[in-house]
Amino acid sequence: MCGIVGYVGSNKSLEVLVGGLRRLEYRGYDSAGVAVIDEDGVLATAKKAGKLVKLTDELEAHPINDGSTGIGHTRWATHGGPTDVNAHPHLGDDGKLALIHNGIIENFSVLKSELLAEGYTFESETDTEVAAVLLGREYRAAGDLQVAFQTTVSRLEGAFTLLALHQDQPNLVVGARRNSPLVIGLGDGENFLGSDVAAFVEHTRRAMAIGQDQIVAITADAVVVTDFEGNAVETEEFEVAWDASASDKGGWSSFMAKEVSEQPDAVANTLRGRVSDSGVHIPELEALGDDVLAGITRIVVVGCGTAAYAGLVAKYAIEKWAGIPVEVELSHEFRYRDPVITRETLVISISQSGETMDTLMAVKYAGDAGARTISICNTQGATIPRESDAAIYTHAGPEVAVASTKAFVAQMTALYLFGLHLARVRGTLTNDEVAVELGELEAIPAKLTTVLETGGSVRQLAHWMADTRAVLFLGRHVGFPVALEGALKLKELAYIHAEGFAAGELKHGPIALIEPGQPVFVIVPSPSRSALLHAKVVSNIQEIRARGARVIAIAEQGDAAVLPFADEVIPIPLAAPLFEPFLAVVPLQLFAMELSLAKGLDVDQPRNLAKSVTVE
Ligand code: F6R
Repeated sequence: MCGIVGYVGSNKSLEVLVGGLRRLEYRGYDSAGVAVIDEDGVLATAKKAGKLVKLTDELEAHPINDGSTGIGHTRWATHGGPTDVNAHPHLGDDGKLALIHNGIIENFSVLKSELLAEGYTFESETDTEVAAVLLGREYRAAGDLQVAFQTTVSRLEGAFTLLALHQDQPNLVVGARRNSPLVIGLGDGENFLGSDVAAFVEHTRRAMAIGQDQIVAITADAVVVTDFEGNAVETEEFEVAWDASASDKGGWSSFMAKEVSEQPDAVANTLRGRVSDSGVHIPELEALGDDVLAGITRIVVVGCGTAAYAGLVAKYAIEKWAGIPVEVELSHEFRYRDPVITRETLVISISQSGETMDTLMAVKYAGDAGARTISICNTQGATIPRESDAAIYTHAGPEVAVASTKAFVAQMTALYLFGLHLARVRGTLTNDEVAVELGELEAIPAKLTTVLETGGSVRQLAHWMADTRAVLFLGRHVGFPVALEGALKLKELAYIHAEGFAAGELKHGPIALIEPGQPVFVIVPSPSRSALLHAKVVSNIQEIRARGARVIAIAEQGDAAVLPFADEVIPIPLAAPLFEPFLAVVPLQLFAMELSLAKGLDVDQPRNLAKSVTVE
């Protein structure tokens, strides 16, 4: 939610900034802007509502003679609509200073009244401009950007990442963060700041995460990190695990198509190094210790959207294997009630970005209340793993398309590994039983490759259904969260009303929605491995078929029982029941993607959304 990039070095800044923004655009695409110190040492800015291309067109039409210091922003609008005026950067100190922001400054109206009373004026409706004007006032008082920045951020409440520069200190960019992401990229004679490493991975893979309530100042040769009071703090360097090409389309028509196709690797890479002949080994959990895990009496999984659905799938596996109660709750609901938390509660957060504000707040709340916390995360240097007692990283590679796909299967993989680890620690599965489940998990990448081959028939189906107004998804057991995920993908990508239901719930209300021609996707359990559930789902299919539904079944290859009742069957390979979600979700992702394309929509950047939701 808003992408931020900063640069000081010896190269032309605009190229670096626009390249960074291109890689960060998934974080928001309502407007984009840059501020640079030009060749004459004067602050120059350009900003435009709309996608990044509007800004690059503007820069072509009105070129800036850029120097080698600058900041850039891509926006997901919060305060103030997506207009040129509301786009960042915002200016202070009579246009000599520029500031960009990700987050929400909660006390902006108090600060604005204070500044208005002093005679300052504002052009935009944003909370960000208040911070820019405040910084300008403090700069006039202090005559030094770092000091002024410290005073300014100490006055702000809420969530923010801020970057700023001033033309009187032309070789300096300052940044600060509270509850919002900021990472440093360390170059040779140049340094970078970014919302995440994608901002600068093209230039350097050496990075440093900045902690809560910290300030950073970069010049071409130095990086200084302090707290809000100006005391030096320790930082740790890390190497970015993927290179720039991992966040390119690599010949695919969209990031979404690329990322769907990368799912076999996402699972295989998340398993790599964690499975051996002696079982499952997750070194990251050593931070917590087996004795702590053995003493856990209850697990609460928190996440939002697709991440929460991955948790819902894993609930079935962890309860079965480790015999421990698992609740799954949306982070924003968990946080604002009074959940019962004890020292024996383990809160597992799931977040691809590691920055989702709702989930971050849930993790902090849980930690403060005494729970142990583990995060499942796909992004190095992100905030949520830093706030957790231990982190299990998924190795899906960067997920750029706004709709989550490969992160989902990687999250399930990490959670299943955790479930098996816990079962071993608690002695609820024998080593042989763990080995059988691991064998199932290790077979998933090859089976995913097979499912991806059904892409052609799904595409055809999506084209036939391009005018559909509503689609229902049904599943039982682990098929239920898959139904929810299928509906979410269709809503966000194709803007079609879609609902996922537990198939058993049909007769309790949703069956009233069925009318002749209503498309219903049904996730059918394996006839051989889950005979009972299979029979139940087949009767659900008959019930909706009798009322005219058009049934599209995702069913095991060769499932003859489903054929007479389905209008379409999309086959998936045989898998043990708990492992079916890995396979059944793929045709649903493909369907949503193809339908979006058939409707001529932007599959990578659906309307109103942003990849990383860093505001509550
Ligand atoms: C759906 C989607 C969202 C995210 C959710 C959580 O396709 O992408 O529902 O899953 O916003 O994001 P993370 O995992 O980054 O916390």
